[in-house]
Amino acid sequence: MSTEIRFGVIGLGLMGREFASAAARWIHLSNLDVRPVLVAACDTNEKAFDWFRASVPTLQFTTTDYHELLARPEIDAVYCAVPHNLHAQVYCDIIQAGKHLLGEKPFGIDLAANDQINDTIAAHPKVFVRCSSELPFYPGGIAIIRSLLEDDFGEFVEVESGLLHSSDLNPEKAINWKRMIEFNGEYGCMGDLGMHALHVPLRFGWFPRRVQAQLTKIVKERPDGKGRMVPCLTWDNAAIFSEVETAVGHCFPITLHTKRIAPGETNTWFLKVMGTKRSMAFSTKYPRTLQVMEYKPGGVQAWQHIDLGYQSAYPTITGSIFEFGFTDTILQMWAAFCDELVHGRRSMQQPFYCVTPEEAHQSHLIFTEALRSHAAWAGLK
Ligand SMILES: NC(=O)c1ccc[n+]([C@@H]2O[C@H](COP(=O)([O-])OP(=O)(O)OC[C@H]3O[C@@H](n4cnc5c(N)ncnc54)[C@H](O)[C@@H]3O)[C@@H](O)[C@H]2O)c1
Repeated sequence: MSTEIRFGVIGLGLMGREFASAAARWIHLSNLDVRPVLVAACDTNEKAFDWFRASVPTLQFTTTDYHELLARPEIDAVYCAVPHNLHAQVYCDIIQAGKHLLGEKPFGIDLAANDQINDTIAAHPKVFVRCSSELPFYPGGIAIIRSLLEDDFGEFVEVESGLLHSSDLNPEKAINWKRMIEFNGEYGCMGDLGMHALHVPLRFGWFPRRVQAQLTKIVKERPDGKGRMVPCLTWDNAAIFSEVETAVGHCFPITLHTKRIAPGETNTWFLKVMGTKRSMAFSTKYPRTLQVMEYKPGGVQAWQHIDLGYQSAYPTITGSIFEFGFTDTILQMWAAFCDELVHGRRSMQQPFYCVTPEEAHQSHLIFTEALRSHAAWAGLK
């Protein structure tokens, strides 16, 4: 017998539809006794209701005012995917209404907004809150996570992680809210993409003791879609250089890349963990290939390229030799959210859980320090 979680969605754009699709495809998961049922949808743009009404047979209620959705007692949990300037207000209202929440990153437009969300969470300890980040659920990501939990990497030499986009290379692409500071925030590309790069490092406690960042604006104005050019003020690319100190005093560098203009990279998430005994690397650019190198002193240094199949965190009906993709990561992340909400961390089916509010807060500390360090960047004279 499956436990049903009745969901409302606030924000029916790109990501709101991904959740609806994952909930509709729940039969894909072969062994989970929890399932989301999408009953209510909210967006200020009424046109967004058409697709939801046509595609979601369980939908009972639509509204342009999210307070009406929150007032409905039958709703247990909310997925919220709205622009960053609204995160603090809407997330706090959801939590105060006693609804469990999966909120989109960056979990507040800035550090002050994130603090407001965390204060509200602290005042409502019975509400379960997590932040969205799906890409580590690729089989290559899960393989590295499992190995970090079970295997000896020796001393960490270096970690590199990132998310790379390329569509903004086109200067004719019209501006949207994600390129406007008032809606997207001062973090720019870091707020949009940074959580993807940080989820795994922060999960393993690699919170840096110092941070330096190189931020760039490449396309400085864009068409507004009405025939004029307008300034595009958000950061396009960020390289964050940081250093982590382990409990035993060993220091190693972590480099994080969040780029909107990485030529040729549509949505490349990658993670590389180098150790003196074991190193592993995975990139969604080559979604079947996991790279592993094991090293014994004096031995051969040879990378293995392992062809991965569908080795997901949560088992599915898909044959293990088949390929895995973005929509599968969304389904797996939702499985982890629902599993942890109903069973608790210790009784989850597998160990990799969604980003916690504490981890989201750590990401804000890193982005805030990255902004500060870039502003203080001194040129050679
Ligand atoms: N996890 C990921 O991979 C991923 C990918 C893209 C975006 N995101 C995040 O998802 C969030 C939304 O991004 P998106 O790409 O879906 O944006 P989007 O522009 O496609 O959708 C946002 C929706 O919110 C609606 N909205 C605005 N104000 C509202 C309000 N007051 N009440 C209800 N609805 C309102 C808009 O009308 C729009 O339909 C952002 O936080 C973004 O960072 C996450």
